[in-house]
Amino acid sequence: APEPKRILVTGAAGQIGYAICPMIARGAMLGPDQPVILHMLDIEPAKQALEGVRMELVDAAYPLLMGVVASTDAEEACKGVDVAVMVGGFPRKAGMERKDVMSKNVAIYKAQASALEKNAAPGCKVLVVANPANTNSLILKEHAPSIPAENITCLTRLDHNRALGQLSERSGVHVGKVKNVIIWGNHSSTQYPDVNHATIDGKPAREVIGDDAYLDGDFISTVQQRGAAIIKARGLSSALSAASSACDHIRDWVLGTPEGTWVSMGVYSDGSYGAPKGVVYSFPVTCKAGTWSIVQGLSIDEPSAAKMKATGDELVEEKALAMECLGEAA
Ligand code: NAI
Repeated sequence: APEPKRILVTGAAGQIGYAICPMIARGAMLGPDQPVILHMLDIEPAKQALEGVRMELVDAAYPLLMGVVASTDAEEACKGVDVAVMVGGFPRKAGMERKDVMSKNVAIYKAQASALEKNAAPGCKVLVVANPANTNSLILKEHAPSIPAENITCLTRLDHNRALGQLSERSGVHVGKVKNVIIWGNHSSTQYPDVNHATIDGKPAREVIGDDAYLDGDFISTVQQRGAAIIKARGLSSALSAASSACDHIRDWVLGTPEGTWVSMGVYSDGSYGAPKGVVYSFPVTCKAGTWSIVQGLSIDEPSAAKMKATGDELVEEKALAMECLGEAA
């Protein structure tokens, strides 16, 4: 068997942590032949709950799970990790301003950037899930200069999968035959879920659905607002779908996207498609041999360009706010 890979999950005692640790231990992230060692990090108040998760992982007797490190010390938890899934963060509470939440989270990501930089294995791949995901990953990148920018990403795969799911439900075609939607921009309600290049059973999605008013209206708002709809239904935010999509994100990044298929990932922008540079923006990407590349040459119509700009503008504004919170010049 290959050497085990070490996978860090921060916020491991939380909701998404509880869903993703068993998925990783079952091979959903790195495949059924890759043994793993889970590194779980949470904070002192969650220490006991974290120990409970560790106990359950032992009790589940996973054949692929070669060890579990449960820690409240970021330096210890980051030691030698090959993959880092950053789920830990401070939730928005009633009455809190956006800036207050931003301030708490960028401080966490600045601190964890240096813990990762000092302790992770060379080539460590980082996925930031905690919100504001794009801006947290940007802060992490800025404060971990020795980690290549292309190794730091954020999760928009959940939005991508939500878009696939909506097209599947609307068309009655299984989700496995729906491909190549795109999530552009921020993991927020300004994101642009784009169906113009999507296919359903090999045919253009617009042709199969045959309802442009829906695709340009309710489809977009349903995907943008899906997180809020889940909170309304469950009283808790999406956890199993977030965990599953995070596994999809890392799996495709490490093992490659299937021929003819792209996925959406938040990556450090090179300015493709007129996106602002210097922010983490979600693009369509293909992956091969552990490297992602932005799909180039897609035609973008006028309404799409406007939506892509709006979500990019929001990211520039979030970056400025984050820098202000950290007391740095934007
Ligand atoms: P949760 O509140 O259940 O868990 C968060 C955990 O992080 C808690 O156990 C908390 O103690 C821990 N934590 C707080 N500060 C920490 C630190 N400095 N280091 C390590 N751990 C720390 O939240 P849940 O539902 O698991 O969601 C986690 C994050 O993921 C939230 O920010 C949420 O908004 C975000 N999210 C992102 C999605 C995406 O698509 N990008 C989808 C769903 C959620």
